[in-house]
Parts: sequence; C-alpha cells; structure tokens
Amino acid sequence: MSPLSTLTPRVKTLKINGLDVSASEGEKILDVARQNGIQIPTLCQLDGLTSVGACRLCLVEVKGTPKLLPACVTSVEEGMEVTTTSERLVKYRQMILELLFSERNHICSVCVSNGHCDLQGMAQAHGMTHVRFPYLYPQQGVDASHRRYVMDHNRCILCARCVRVCDEIEGAHTWDIQGRGGDAFVITDFNQPWGESQTCTSCGKCVQVCPTGALSEKGKSVAEMTKKREFVPYLTLMREEL
Ligand code: SF4
Ligand code: SF4
Ligand code: FES
Repeated sequence: MSPLSTLTPRVKTLKINGLDVSASEGEKILDVARQNGIQIPTLCQLDGLTSVGACRLCLVEVKGTPKLLPACVTSVEEGMEVTTTSERLVKYRQMILELLFSERNHICSVCVSNGHCDLQGMAQAHGMTHVRFPYLYPQQGVDASHRRYVMDHNRCILCARCVRVCDEIEGAHTWDIQGRGGDAFVITDFNQPWGESQTCTSCGKCVQVCPTGALSEKGKSVAEMTKKREFVPYLTLMREEL
C-alpha cells in the first residue's frame, strides 16, 4: 500500500431519498444530506460544535434497520439507503416536539425568545397545533445572579449547546448537565449560582447558541434578543488552522 492511499479518505456510496450520493468514510448522514441539498430538521446540532445526538429531531430511516437513527451522529455506510422524510418520521418528529413542550414550561407569549426561538420555529414548521401529552409543569428556577445574563430553566430543552460551546470554543467549561432523564438540568461550575462562577469569562457564547429563551441577556427586549451563531464555525475553523 502506498503512503498516499492511507491518507486518502475511503469513499462510500449510498442513497438518500433515492438519490445516489458519495461521502467520505466517517461522514455523518446529516452532513452528506446537506451537501446534496437535502435538509433534515435539527435542534441540538450546531455547525462548529461536536454533535451529541441529544434531541432526536434528526431521526431518519435506514433500510434494513427497524430503529430510527439520528442523522447527526450516524456515520454513512457503503450501500446504505436513507429516507429523510416519510409519514412515520413526520409523526415521530411532531411527537418529539410535543414532548419537549410538555416537559418544561414553554409559554411563548411571555418568553424573551418569542418569534426567534428554534423550538417554536420547529413546531411551526412541523404543523404542531397542540400537545397531546400531559404538561408536567415542573417547578423550575431562574438564575439571574450573573451581572449580564439570565438562565431560565423553564425554557431549557437540554440540547447541551451551551455546554459544548463553553467547553469546545471558549475553553471555560463552566456548564455541565447534572442528573438524568427528566430530572436533568444544566448547572454552572459545581451547581453554584452563575454569578459566582470562577470559570465564566462572561463571553456570552452560551447565550448566543441557546436555541430557546433559556439563556438571555439582561436588559434586552423580546425584539432585541435575537441570537448570533455564525461565529461558531468561524472560530472552529480558525482554531483548526492555527
Ligand atoms: S459566558 Fe462564556 S464563559 Fe461564561 S458560561 Fe457562557 S460560554 Fe461559558
Ligand atoms: S440552556 Fe439553552 S443551550 Fe443550554 S442546554 Fe438549555 S436550551 Fe440548550
Ligand atoms: S440534531 Fe441530531 S439528535 Fe439533535
């Protein structure tokens, strides 16, 4: 084997929605679909951050596999036949969204992210008109101890974008997720108030990547609290090039 052949990524050929596509070994279904103009809905995934497969909104069907697989963390395989849209997928995506709405207290009309929230936008895009599951109405707190930012646990969907951007881009690792399942929640440092954090640099990256109104800036009105995320892939690229 020549030294070059070990450096050349192995090419995989597969079908997505009946379209013949090729990909490099290790590439994820989501990326390959996007490269070929096929959009798959996502919530926890964000370009520039590692994918963790937390929200399950990107589920796709793979022929020969009874389970639905998350496209953001599933690598392509030779001969794979992927379907990204079907009645079954629409049903599951709607159900996932409804479960997210029922799990915490998402009352859009009084949320700082009303009108520019990824969860709300995804629900609208999927024709979600009501929630078929019982609302849990958990008693969630609000941490307003940081001088610039607020954390409202009622709006958190546990996507871990804040955890990843703070660790992978800012390098502070202020955020973590404590607990499991429905009892999980994000914490700063060792579950100290955010305002007392010894690691937080107040850079605001976590606020910008949060898909909902869980993280917001103090003193910003609903119209002003739009989020900017373009910096994540840029900073990731710059870091790789150094
Ligand atoms: S403001 Fe910056 S350092 Fe502080 S928690 Fe958010 S991402 Fe981490
Ligand atoms: S605070 Fe925002 S970014 Fe962090 S896990 Fe919750 S929803 Fe995701
Ligand atoms: S985007 Fe794939 S699991 Fe959330």
